[in-house]
Amino acid sequence: MMLRIPAVLTKQQVAQCRQVMDAAEWVDGNVTAGHQSALAKKNMQLPEGSVAARQVGELVLDALERSPLFISGALPLKVFPPLFNRYAGGESFGNHVDNAIRPLAGSDFRIRTDLSCTLFLAEPEEYDGGELVVEDTYGEHRVKLPAGDMVLYPSTSLHRVTEVTRGARVASFFWLQSMVRDDGQRSLLFQLDTSIQQLAAEKTHGDPAVVQLTAIYHNLLRRWADS
Ligand code: NI
Repeated sequence: MMLRIPAVLTKQQVAQCRQVMDAAEWVDGNVTAGHQSALAKKNMQLPEGSVAARQVGELVLDALERSPLFISGALPLKVFPPLFNRYAGGESFGNHVDNAIRPLAGSDFRIRTDLSCTLFLAEPEEYDGGELVVEDTYGEHRVKLPAGDMVLYPSTSLHRVTEVTRGARVASFFWLQSMVRDDGQRSLLFQLDTSIQQLAAEKTHGDPAVVQLTAIYHNLLRRWADS
């Protein structure tokens, strides 16, 4: 399931992030690439663990913790500290799949990548190209969102970033391990949760059908979740 999460960051928070990022030093993006993707990847990144990456990363993680849509759609167990990239002057990232296991350098922390996240930090008008193209069994999905919006997609998907031919595409990207490993199960839980929220808004508090459906949601989660 691909999921768009609008306005994870306000425009003011985006401006705050960009101020820190624009003043920081950037390095070749191949520092986080696996062997295969290193051949396809042309972009710049904030160094992992740099002061700027940590500062902006914390702002992003705080915002995500307050997003009910993110929590419901991702059911996050472990989130990798956000990374930041910039594509300009014809840079792109060819078709690849993200590494299955992502260790955090210099620590014992590592995650299985269930979901890949891209948080856009430049407005679509600021650059040409730079679409995230995600392939699944329904075909290709082209994603280019307003600054502050985020997209989640299964890390199993082949994906690429098209060439940026004008301006600069600035984004945060990271991965998470979900409590529910299987994308199909996680999608069902999300749909069920969304329906329960809608129904609960229409019914009086304590409506027996809503209570029953909520019990089913939690009992499915108990069955499928690792914690
Ligand atoms: Ni990728």
